[in-house]
Amino acid sequence: MNRLLRSRRGLPRMDFGRIWIRQLLFAAAAIAVAIGPVVILAHSVATAQIQDYLSRRRQATEVEAAQAIAADAQINDWADIGDLLPRLAQITGERIVLTNAAGQVVADSARTYTPGSQPKIPTSWHQMHIVDSANGSLLGTAHLTPSSGAVAAATPQTFAGVVADALLVAAGASFIVALLLSLVLSRTITRPITAVIGAARQLQRGDLEARVKIEASGELAELARSFNAMADGLDEANQQRQQMVADVAHELRTPLTILRGYLEALADGVIAPTQDALRGVHDEAVHLQHLVEDLQDLALAESKQLVMDRAPVDMPSLVRGVVDGFSIQAREKDIELTAATLGEVPPITGDSRRIGEVLRNLVANALAYTPAGGRVHVDVKRSADGGVEVAVADNGIGIAPADLPNVFDRFYRTDKSRTRATGGAGLGLTIAKRLVEAHGGRIGVQSEPGAGARFWFTLPAPS
Ligand SMILES: Nc1ncnc2c1ncn2[C@@H]1O[C@H](COP(=O)(O)OP(=O)(O)OP(=O)(O)O)[C@@H](O)[C@H]1O
Ligand SMILES: [Mg+2]
Repeated sequence: MNRLLRSRRGLPRMDFGRIWIRQLLFAAAAIAVAIGPVVILAHSVATAQIQDYLSRRRQATEVEAAQAIAADAQINDWADIGDLLPRLAQITGERIVLTNAAGQVVADSARTYTPGSQPKIPTSWHQMHIVDSANGSLLGTAHLTPSSGAVAAATPQTFAGVVADALLVAAGASFIVALLLSLVLSRTITRPITAVIGAARQLQRGDLEARVKIEASGELAELARSFNAMADGLDEANQQRQQMVADVAHELRTPLTILRGYLEALADGVIAPTQDALRGVHDEAVHLQHLVEDLQDLALAESKQLVMDRAPVDMPSLVRGVVDGFSIQAREKDIELTAATLGEVPPITGDSRRIGEVLRNLVANALAYTPAGGRVHVDVKRSADGGVEVAVADNGIGIAPADLPNVFDRFYRTDKSRTRATGGAGLGLTIAKRLVEAHGGRIGVQSEPGAGARFWFTLPAPS
């Protein structure tokens, strides 16, 4: 009950938004609707039954009284009717006035009318003719009217009152029991919800370990599971962010350390500012710049804020352009670089600069991881789903099966000891994957260590 709000005057005020209060009110209304008609019906049926029973009993006792009076008349000529009548009146619960055939009072159980008198008895009184059982002649008339005796207390109204009281007690008791049960039920519903709210607050405060214990079943368990899954996702995203910052710092440290070493040596006069020395400084600055540009591209692609300059793209000519751009580099490395278009290739729509970047990353990798004397071949063809598929195949060092699933992860390099100075940062494939996916395409790799690698990507046909 501590959840009751305090109003301004300090009195507790119900917060009708709370589930348990709503459920309690709802249950109270439902129980009232369910029990009310039953109570009313039971009460009226019981009253009718009691009334019926009492009137039948009255009739029976009246007949018995009339028979007793008739017998008394025949045997004693009503000699002791003065004693008999009050006793009969007690049994029937009525006042009995007995008149003879001439209409004169023989006896009155209330002893109000004197025997022999001929009072005007109200017609509303019940009359019973006392008949001689032997010849059927009229002996007299018994006039009966309800009196306020002990038996009279047992009127239909008093019986009905007792029944109503019993029904009210039963209804009240079941109302309270039902309310208590509903309270227990609402607590079992709200407890898991309260647990989720508590865990959500913990998350909000930055405690990403907060999880809900799944004790409920059904939808409430589903709620708890969904919450935990969301918390897992947040936790993972947070860990990835931390890892990313650590990786970026790590990648920047090497070129910066080299740059600093060069600059300190130049400043201290340890090395002369020759063209070679300055080229070394320049190379490191270029590495750094590339790294920062790659990171920016990746951040953009991952935040889905990449602005795409979509236009129809002729893939065969795009491939040719990229391959031509690498021809000098390939010749210097003594690698045979070729390209081919297989069959009809449909035009696609996309950002040609970004698609070119994907292709350049793949070709640069193929040239980097293929030894002198090797081959790199790019082909472009129509894909199975009607779009375009581009593949860059080399016969270089290849990728170990254990590394294959991870090559598209950021900062992933199969040779961990290699740094930016001796190779890439491990961002090229991650960026390529994000760019292909931003176009609605797919990217993949097949490779065998020592036999080379084949990287492919597809771009869908315009819908
Ligand atoms: N054609 C290939 N043959 C063999 N290994 C490859 C090939 N392409 C990529 N890899 C492996 O996958 C890793 C990830 O490639 P990715 O292009 O993402 O990074 P990188 O080339 O090392 O650096 P960056 O591209 O960022 O300059 C590479 O470090 C390399 O180990
Ligand atoms: Mg690369």
